[in-house]
Amino acid sequence: MYKKLAKYYDLIYHWKDYDKEAYSIKDLIKKYKNSDGNKLLDVGCGTGKHLEYFKDDFSCTGIDINNEMVEVAKSKVKEVIFEQGNMTNFNLKTEFDVILCLFSSIGYVKTYSNLEKTMLNFSNHLKTGGVLIIEPWFTKSTYWVGAPGMTTYDEKDIKIARLNTTKIEGDLSIMEMHYLIAEKDEDVIHFVDTHELGLFEIDKTLEFMEKASFKTEFLKNGLMEDRGLFIGIKK
Ligand SMILES: C[S@@+](CC[C@H](N)C(=O)[O-])C[C@H]1O[C@@H](n2cnc3c(N)ncnc32)[C@H](O)[C@@H]1O
Repeated sequence: MYKKLAKYYDLIYHWKDYDKEAYSIKDLIKKYKNSDGNKLLDVGCGTGKHLEYFKDDFSCTGIDINNEMVEVAKSKVKEVIFEQGNMTNFNLKTEFDVILCLFSSIGYVKTYSNLEKTMLNFSNHLKTGGVLIIEPWFTKSTYWVGAPGMTTYDEKDIKIARLNTTKIEGDLSIMEMHYLIAEKDEDVIHFVDTHELGLFEIDKTLEFMEKASFKTEFLKNGLMEDRGLFIGIKK
């Protein structure tokens, strides 16, 4: 997952307004953060797109499970420290003032048992008064099961088409993403990236956050439609 995609990730998500999202998140940090420092960790940071807009105001670290994504991030965003690690069990041996986990990266932990471990791990990496902001994946009731999806990117020297279908198995949503990529002077390539994300209920996520020593809030209107945002303040 994301391995062959890393090189093309920013093109596929060219429509996403990272600058505007970072601006909204900075407002939330100002409102909720009660610790004094400015150390920020972005978990599931991908190619570091949000961090480009945080690096001037915070001392930033990004972590992602996927080495290919980490390498792309390192090559683009020089002022940020990037590490490879799994959000369920990474250990950076330090505490942050802000932890972000955006664009539904949290869904990739797949199971409630991993979600509970991840919340504890986030808690262990936050100072008292530090703020956790999680943009979740969908729940079982908000997920668009069965609907086909298509995203395209069309430039003179590169054309990308991504088509997918969606299904649910238990608490998991499964998307088989088929990529067709045509680049100047290259053969067309096709690969399949299968994404499995847990459909976690809001109440259950809040319960795990509270068990991990967070004072919690769920904001229905978050960054993207129908996803919302979890806010946790470390007690
Ligand atoms: C949808 S992308 C979001 C990337 C980035 N936050 C953004 O907004 O563009 C999800 C990211 O989560 C990462 N990821 C998946 N499972 C993870 C895990 N267990 N620990 C850390 N990162 C993970 C993937 O490699 C991928 O880069």
